[in-house]
Amino acid sequence: LQAFFAPKLLVGQRVLITAGPTFEAIDPVRGITNLSSGKMGFAIARAARAAGAEVTLVAGPVHLPTPRGVRRIDVRSAQNMLQAVDTQAPEATIFIATAAVADWRPAHAAEHKIKKDGSGDTPTLAFVENPDILAQVAQSARARAGQLYCVGFAAESENLLAHASAKRVRKGVPLLVGNIGPATFGQDDNALLLVDAQGHRELPRAPKSELGRQLVAEIARRLGEAGA
Ligand code: CTP
Ligand code: CA
Repeated sequence: LQAFFAPKLLVGQRVLITAGPTFEAIDPVRGITNLSSGKMGFAIARAARAAGAEVTLVAGPVHLPTPRGVRRIDVRSAQNMLQAVDTQAPEATIFIATAAVADWRPAHAAEHKIKKDGSGDTPTLAFVENPDILAQVAQSARARAGQLYCVGFAAESENLLAHASAKRVRKGVPLLVGNIGPATFGQDDNALLLVDAQGHRELPRAPKSELGRQLVAEIARRLGEAGA
């Protein structure tokens, strides 16, 4: 029904979305991840599809059904996610990075399960930084030429406006969407703060499905202005 009645604001657009957490292996049976549920990204994918876009969703490990009509690529690590995004981004006109990408991964994933050796010693993990998928896409030639509109997300635990504004500039994206986490992780509701070069605007607390529709309308309006 939603798909039938939704205004077709994104007809002709190809939307690429990252969603969910990533999982960074320690050994074949263990790893590091985070509490992102993927619900916000999946809601945006559903809303973009209902608005007439072609939608590709690159999803980390989540427990969510694929929205109808959306092409889904499942990935595990940040490096896997970057690879999938790199192959899809040349086709996209809008990139929305909602994924909670692990900032660091273990420097070496053990080939075999790490065993206790009986001494009581604990393993020490060394980390390396993961690639910044959003920043890389936002710096690509197509993004800089205005052919790929990039939207970032930020979950902050304090000073949302200041952190989100700084992050928008640092990532080089026209629009950054902030929310106060981690309380919203896994919830069906959220409240969003849209931050752009002109200022900011709040989308008050609502179901993620509704916020997905509002965000799609915002993006469509901004693309319309850019193209006008
Ligand atoms: N992001 C990404 N790749 C990363 C880290 C983040 O694509 N390796 C994207 C997220 O999907 C989000 C935005 O960048 O759209 C901001 O992510 P966030 O974790 O809030 O920012 P960081 O730059 O990682 O800074 P920090 O976690 O230290 O606040
Ligand atoms: Ca981060």
